[in-house]
Amino acid sequence: MASVSIKNVWKYYGETAAVKDLNLEVQNGEFLCVLGPSGCGKSSSLRMLAGLEHISAGDIHFGDRRVNELPPKDRDIAMVFENYALYPHKTVFDNIGNALKLRKVDPTTIQQKVERAAEMLEIKHLLQRKPMELSGGQKQRVAIGRAIVREPELFLFDEPIAHLDAKLRAHMRGELKILQRKLGTTMVYVTHDQMEALSMADRVAVMHEGVLQQYGTPQEIYHKPVNAWVAGFVGEPPMNFLDCELVQEGDAIQVKHSTFSVSLLPEQASIINSAKLERKVQLAIRPDEIHINGKQSAESIKAEVKITEPLGGDMLVDTTVGKEKVLVKTKPDFTASMGEECFLSFDKQRWHVFSSETGLAFF
Ligand SMILES: Nc1ncnc2c1ncn2[C@@H]1O[C@H](COP(=O)(O)OP(=O)(O)O)[C@@H](O)[C@H]1O
Ligand SMILES: [Mg+2]
Repeated sequence: MASVSIKNVWKYYGETAAVKDLNLEVQNGEFLCVLGPSGCGKSSSLRMLAGLEHISAGDIHFGDRRVNELPPKDRDIAMVFENYALYPHKTVFDNIGNALKLRKVDPTTIQQKVERAAEMLEIKHLLQRKPMELSGGQKQRVAIGRAIVREPELFLFDEPIAHLDAKLRAHMRGELKILQRKLGTTMVYVTHDQMEALSMADRVAVMHEGVLQQYGTPQEIYHKPVNAWVAGFVGEPPMNFLDCELVQEGDAIQVKHSTFSVSLLPEQASIINSAKLERKVQLAIRPDEIHINGKQSAESIKAEVKITEPLGGDMLVDTTVGKEKVLVKTKPDFTASMGEECFLSFDKQRWHVFSSETGLAFF
């Protein structure tokens, strides 16, 4: 089993820095998801772990072994890519067992290991087929089977299920999580899909433009985003942001929008005060942390309904507050017509305030 330590790691392609001063510690047996949009440096980071890409600066350790110069074959890792990379002329059995054959493992052991992996992945009935006779999901399982039989210290998965259809992806999320827990192998899993990261990982590393933004549990990433970028990236439908100003009124701090003013909770006001009152901020709140009502109540905010989108068990309501759009997720029995007046109240325990200048969270 391996722990992984990434210290001050940089990756340059020519002049361009794709990964900037990355620091991550992955514990033995942990499932880490590296999450970020396309081009943020996820694959570059993973490929440096694999030894497929030179490390421009910094150090990578597996356990207490520095691996910077170690070739991939000596790292005891198994990778799974988005494009499967199966041998087209080999059967599923031979695809899965190939690495063991190259290692001169005896045929009986290969047979046992391939069958055990195939059983785990529910592809035992496909062992004699060729890749072209398989669906995308089945090919993906073969690629994962090939990684499992090697019994590596570390799994490195690069968007392994991105090509599958939505239903199968949701199913595979659960399967992969179970599989990793069963095997207990340390996993670094790269994805642009926040649902994958939040649902599978023990900890999530969120990257943006080559820079690690936040490293924490899925709960921390979702409920305590460190900055406005993470807040906006994680969560579907996305968080709402409103340009506001903070104004001290006696002991209280008011969040003033061009169309409304509401007070911060006392504990939130004290965070702002100790960080010195900063006027321009973004008030941010998730669509499901807003209550929508036809009637006015204390501190409710007047809005206008633009459109309602029934989504089966939920209802999305697009509203506008002044000139800004606010999306609300509510119960499917909510009814309102276009242009109708409505009132929003925010769950103050759940909202966030970000500095407009730095994007950093006060809370
Ligand atoms: N071999 C390469 N040569 C030059 N630039 C590259 C190479 N690989 C990746 N890049 C650039 O580095 C950045 C990060 O890429 P990558 O690590 O593949 O991101 P991700 O996997 O998050 O989509 C991108 O801007 C990409 O264009
Ligand atoms: Mg990539």
